[in-house]
Amino acid sequence: MTNQQIIIVGFMGSGKTTVAWEVGQKLNWAVIDLDDFITSSEGRSPAEIIEQDGENSFREIETQVLGKVLSNNSRVVIAAGGGVWTVGENRRLIAKQGALTVWLDAPFELCWDRIQVKREMRPLAPSEEVAKRLYRDRRPVYESADLRIPVAENDTAEEIAGRLIDRVTTIGGSETEDRTRV
Ligand code: S3P
Repeated sequence: MTNQQIIIVGFMGSGKTTVAWEVGQKLNWAVIDLDDFITSSEGRSPAEIIEQDGENSFREIETQVLGKVLSNNSRVVIAAGGGVWTVGENRRLIAKQGALTVWLDAPFELCWDRIQVKREMRPLAPSEEVAKRLYRDRRPVYESADLRIPVAENDTAEEIAGRLIDRVTTIGGSETEDRTRV
């Protein structure tokens, strides 16, 4: 595989973090969870930053951190926050770096079940109605990722990671040249 960076995108609760860890383990690559990275560099979680300073401030920090992580790491699997791929500047950064984006396409009901368990971590999904609207609005943007991996309720992270790696290795390096998004 020619890509040296895989970035996993998708809605809150789609399983980005757990799948990223499985993929990293299988490929023997480093794993960086962008939200965790932000929490340690800023001393506050994304949820706290959004609540205290607003979403726009968080997005600025997120873009800065994404740029730093992309330019300083290779052979890395990055678990993005749910909003990363929806910001044009982030898509440009990712394309410039030649990172491969993989969308975990999980049904809303599954994401919502998981969001509810840790709702305090997701200020942008305070109710089912708001979360559903965001999910619908974001789907067309997620669709522009390089690869789509469908996720069903009973799939384990290991199974999803296995499928993801199969797809990535099948397409080899051609995705970089074929890419027309951004
Ligand atoms: C967000 C998702 C969160 C976190 C922040 C904003 C979003 O990450 O980055 O609360 O805009 O969807 P997860 O997708 O890991 O929950």
